[in-house]
This record gives sequence, C-alpha cells and structure tokens, in this order.
Amino acid sequence: MSLCLYISAEIFVVRNMVRVGIVGIGNIAAMFIQAVEYYRRYEREDGLIHHVIGNYRVHDIRFAYAIDVSKNKVGKDLSEAIFAKPNQVPKYIDVPRTGVVVRMGRVLDGVAEHMREDFEPANEPEPSLREIVKELEDNNVDVLVNLLPVGSAQASRFYAEAAAKAGVAFVNCIPEFIASDPAYSKMFEENNTLILGDDIKGQLGSTIVHRALASLVAMRGGEIVESYQLNVGGNTDFKNMLDHGRLHSKKISKTMAVASTQPDPEKILENLFAGPSGYIPFLGNTKVAYIYMKVLGFMGLPITIDLKLTVDDKAMASAILADVVRLAKALRDKGVKGSPDWASAFYFKYPPKQAKSDEEALLNLYLKLEELGIDIEPKRLYLWNYLKQKQ
Ligand SMILES: NC(=O)c1ccc[n+]([C@@H]2O[C@H](COP(=O)([O-])OP(=O)(O)OC[C@H]3O[C@@H](n4cnc5c(N)ncnc54)[C@H](O)[C@@H]3O)[C@@H](O)[C@H]2O)c1
Repeated sequence: MSLCLYISAEIFVVRNMVRVGIVGIGNIAAMFIQAVEYYRRYEREDGLIHHVIGNYRVHDIRFAYAIDVSKNKVGKDLSEAIFAKPNQVPKYIDVPRTGVVVRMGRVLDGVAEHMREDFEPANEPEPSLREIVKELEDNNVDVLVNLLPVGSAQASRFYAEAAAKAGVAFVNCIPEFIASDPAYSKMFEENNTLILGDDIKGQLGSTIVHRALASLVAMRGGEIVESYQLNVGGNTDFKNMLDHGRLHSKKISKTMAVASTQPDPEKILENLFAGPSGYIPFLGNTKVAYIYMKVLGFMGLPITIDLKLTVDDKAMASAILADVVRLAKALRDKGVKGSPDWASAFYFKYPPKQAKSDEEALLNLYLKLEELGIDIEPKRLYLWNYLKQKQ
C-alpha cells in the first residue's frame, strides 16, 4: 500500500516538471535562472504573462542540462556559471546548487573573431552529435533552449538537430531561421517532437512596441511612409553584433516583424529600418530603443511619432522564456509535432507565419490550446472574454 502511494507520488512529481536544457549560459540564462528561483521562493506570479500553461506554473521549471564553450563557465555548477564573466546580470537572488555542471559544447561559428577575448573558448574536447543526443536523453530534458550569439548559424543547427534526434522540444531564441525552415519542421515532426521560434520577441521590447504602434496606425487608416527603430545596449549581445556579417538575419527578423503588420508589407520595406545600432559599454544590459514614424493621416496630412523605450533587455527575454518553455512542454505532452506557427507567432519575431497583430496571434494561440484541451491562464485578451460571453 505504502509502495503504491510512493510510486504514484513520484509519477505526480515527474509529470509536473518542465526539465529545461540551455545552450549558451550568457546574460539571458543568468536572468532566467534567477527569475525561476525568485518566483518559486517567494511564491509570486506578478509580471508573468501567463501563470498557468497546461499543468505547469513557473515553479515547475527545473534546469536539467547546460552547455557553453567559455573556460569561465564550462565545468562549473550552473548556479555559479551564470555569474561568470563576461555575464553582467547582477545577483538578484542566491541560486542553490543545481547539480548541473556546464558541459563543453561544439564551438563551430558561435564565437566571432572579435569576441574571442570576451567568450574565451575553453581548450577542451568538443562533443559529437551522438554524445549530445545521449546526454539529452539521459538527463530527461524536455525542452532545449538556444541562447547562442547572433550569427551562430552552424552551431544553432547542430544543437537543433541534437534536440530533434533526442525527441526533445527546441526553442530557438535567436535570429537563425530554423523553426521557419520547412526542412527542420519536417525533421522535428519525424522525431515526434516540435520546435518553436525564431528570435524571441521581448515582453515589452522594441519590436513588440514598434509592431503595436504600426498595427494601430493601420487600424486607424494611416499610412506609414518611413520609420526606424534604433537599438543600443552595452553587453556581449550588442558587442557581438558589431560584426555586420553576423547581422543579416537579425535585420530581416526585426524588419519583417514590423512590416508584416501593414496592409502592403512590401511597400514599406524600402523606408523601414529596424536593427541593432550601437554598442555603448556603460549601458550594460539596459537597452535603449528610439522609434520614429512618419505617417500620412487624414487628408494626407503628416503625423510624427517619436518614442524612447528603456528596458532591461534580459528581463524582457526571460519573461517570454517563462512562457515558452512551459508551452513547448505542454504541446509535447499532447503530441504536437513539427513547427506549429500558431504557437510561435505571439512569442517570436520571425515565426513560420506572421500574424497581422499580436492580438490576432494571441487569439489564435488561445483557440488552438482550447482545441487541444490545454489550459492557459489568465487570458490576456479582452477580445477573448468578449467572444466567450457572446457564445
Ligand atoms: N531581449 C533579448 O535579450 C533578446 C531578444 C531576442 C534575441 N536574443 C538573442 O538571444 C541570444 C542570447 O542572448 P544573451 O544576451 O544571453 O547572449 P550572451 O552574449 O550573454 O551569451 C551567449 C553565450 O553563448 C556562449 N557560446 C558561444 N558559442 C557557443 C557554442 N558554440 N556553444 C555553446 N555556447 C556558446 C557564450 O560563451 C555565452 O555564454 C543572442 O543571440 C541574442 O541576440 C536576445
């Protein structure tokens, strides 16, 4: 009798966890890991987009696996590695030892020439694809999160393939077009798992604010004739992006996120700039964005919008991760496979299919989750409550 109770308790615990692996233990990882500890320890839920997704609250996230290539991080417990240089997220909370030792990864194109002194790759043997697949399986990882530097085209695909082969869900936070590549969608489908991406859209970052303004202009009958979104920051993410050769996909991802809100996206592209615009070391993880729009309104008269946004960039990304790792796990529990565009559109800048507005993206997400019987609370859409009342 007592054995039965013991076994069922164990099953209950295992079922209610989201076991997360992270590739790239940089500033976002440092913020996200501390945030999960913060929400768990203080039993808080304020500031989260959704409190419940499927069976999971943020307290149910566990860190089960970690990869980096930096000599300051490899070999350390994850709770220490997140504070190693060149990371600069402050210590908000003591993270207890996780028992997860950061393992050496495959360097490939992860470290740009001008970043070698910052990332300091370790002189250690690099793992094969098979080794990573086996470790993902042995550590029962549910979701692997890609947090490599912008421009890591080969390295991101290497880890994505490992996740697919291990049957693990993959969350691609960076502007490499993988979730939006049908070949990868097929690879994940064939391995009975899924991928979400590409390029995380921060909680209230410059892309979502620019998109919201652009959607508003279109809804009110205005026409955007020119617009820019300049972004500056002072961490390794911004320093890495000084190499313009690594930026191509970032600019496409940010520009298309805004253009896609317009009735004729092609028309605005020529006069639209959205991208990283400078590295200012003293800013650290603070990102400052300047958004400008010239709009033609009633009778063709001009309207000018100038907006300055200041955010902690790593908190913006972590708020999204708190949702998407639980979403990925909840979808995997229900057998969703491939690259579900409706699951990525609200959370990523370059999903396989863009929604015209973030309200539409969220509505689609709620509708699909309802179909699948996956709970998501609280509903952040007035329109949803309105439609439900009408039914
Ligand atoms: N709001 C945001 O912060 C935001 C939004 C969208 C996308 N992103 C993207 O998320 C990614 C992560 O951001 P971050 O600020 O944590 O970056 P970061 O520069 O702080 O960290 C990158 C980490 O990757 C490690 N690394 C490099 N090559 C590797 C390899 N081959 N294998 C394993 N590890 C490797 C580095 O040692 C470092 O620890 C960046 O590409 C960034 O552009 C961030």
